[in-house]
Amino acid sequence: MARVRTAVLLSGRGSNLKSLIAAATAADFPAEIALVLSNVENAGGLEVARAAGIPAVAISHRDFESRESFDRAIDAALREANIALVCEAGFMRIHSDWFARVWEGKLLNIHPSLLPAFKGIRVHQQALDAGVKISGCTVHFIVAELDSGPIIAQASVPVLPGDTAETLAARVLEKEHKLYPHALQLVAEGKVKLENGRAVFV
Ligand code: GAR
Repeated sequence: MARVRTAVLLSGRGSNLKSLIAAATAADFPAEIALVLSNVENAGGLEVARAAGIPAVAISHRDFESRESFDRAIDAALREANIALVCEAGFMRIHSDWFARVWEGKLLNIHPSLLPAFKGIRVHQQALDAGVKISGCTVHFIVAELDSGPIIAQASVPVLPGDTAETLAARVLEKEHKLYPHALQLVAEGKVKLENGRAVFV
């Protein structure tokens, strides 16, 4: 079985990357993690990749004068490695419209809330401030508007009395580690597609 060559883009420690790598060790998993890119040179996720024998490259956004020129460098690295799908996992850069368009339908992101609630940053504090009793995580296709793309899959957790942003983040993260491999599997198998601005199950 030809497995879909998948890249992971990240800026941090890479625990979601770890869960994707672990899932992809199964012989029947439809995707392989073939490249890891980070905009942060010392991101822990790059080490996670290297330890697993996966090519890992840092491209600093600081070396580029515009969002799009940085995205063009990312795009070139993805094409060079023959990448067909991209999973963003804690990649803390907003893409240019150009990049979102070029990779439309091939670009996934995980966000630690039940979108469309609580976009952007400090997500768990936003959830606590709003007093919601359920939070969770979302995997969605990326579109130009931040955290607004068609939803592929979600998982929920309770918000418990006494939760802090840290305890809630840890509970959500456990769900992320199961949800992202599941969503990648669906997309890599062609069971979910982006069509007319919606995630369509085929
Ligand atoms: C994850 O919780 C992910 O959902 C979040 O960053 C964390 C990365 O952790 N992403 C965002 O907030 C994107 N808006 P990880 O490096 O351990 O996978």
